[in-house]
Amino acid sequence: MPKKHVFVCTQSRPPGHPRGSCGSGDAALVFQEFLRQFEEKKLWGSFALTATGCLGPCSSGPNVLVYPEGIMYGGVKKDDVAAIVAEHLLGNSPVQRLRVPEEVWS
Ligand code: FES
Repeated sequence: MPKKHVFVCTQSRPPGHPRGSCGSGDAALVFQEFLRQFEEKKLWGSFALTATGCLGPCSSGPNVLVYPEGIMYGGVKKDDVAAIVAEHLLGNSPVQRLRVPEEVWS
């Protein structure tokens, strides 16, 4: 069983859709960067990575959810991925500046 499992929302919706979507932001770039980091740091096996559909709080996307803690990150950019990997996955310390407010997630 992986120590942590990262879910990256890559959901798309048609232009003008009232809910928006993570896919209209940088979700694809974020997922690609996680893939790159998983390869580079040889995280496969110890950690899992999944591109997923809508996680709920679309307006705060691109969203990334990490289990087992159930930590939701919002507004994630490609350049934020290194911090999530180094600090949260490898360091066990969630990146507080990227967390969505609790009420958005629950
Ligand atoms: S589209 Fe990503 S959380 Fe809804």
